[in-house]
Amino acid sequence: MGSAQPNDIDHILLSEEEIAAKLDELAAKIDADYADKDLLLVGVLKGAVMVMADLSRKLQHTKVAMDWMAVSSYGSGTKSSGVVRILKDLDADLSGRHVLIVEDIIDSGLTLSWLMSNLRSRGCASLEVAAMLRKPEAAKVKVDVKYIGFDIPNEFVVGYGLDYDERYRSLPYVGTLAPHVYEN
Ligand code: PRP
Repeated sequence: MGSAQPNDIDHILLSEEEIAAKLDELAAKIDADYADKDLLLVGVLKGAVMVMADLSRKLQHTKVAMDWMAVSSYGSGTKSSGVVRILKDLDADLSGRHVLIVEDIIDSGLTLSWLMSNLRSRGCASLEVAAMLRKPEAAKVKVDVKYIGFDIPNEFVVGYGLDYDERYRSLPYVGTLAPHVYEN
């Protein structure tokens, strides 16, 4: 169970096996789309660490480089402004590069929407998104996501990179958090 107490997780939404099978599918599509191209994967810290590690290792035919960005929404907690601050910028120069943003979850879509226009302005040859999870009911802006793992209900989920108060990221599955954890 990783770092969680067994009763912290209400139920498992996506098992380790379901996640692995979905990543196989996404990797096959990405391989087909980028065959013979150099691809720069941009992971968005910290949640995307797991999907970045697993997805990148499933790519067979794509020449992959990796870089990382850390961002934070202004007025954290609300995340409503859509104004994002860069905590750690990319090391890579994006001009002329094929870039694939790798995200763990799209909630309101505000982070990704901001990130896409920021990265696009740096002159990439192409820019797409791969996200493991999306909460359609929470969307505030429409974001064009080419590779999506699962659409999930608007519930509090943790695991596979997703945290509550920095815990549970290391769980190998995605589960809903039991209310007693955040009600205390
Ligand atoms: C999460 C996730 C996305 C963002 C999605 O990151 O990784 O970057 O929130 O939310 P949005 O669609 O409403 O903008 P978070 O800010 O929780 O940071 P973390 O990855 O370090 O946990």
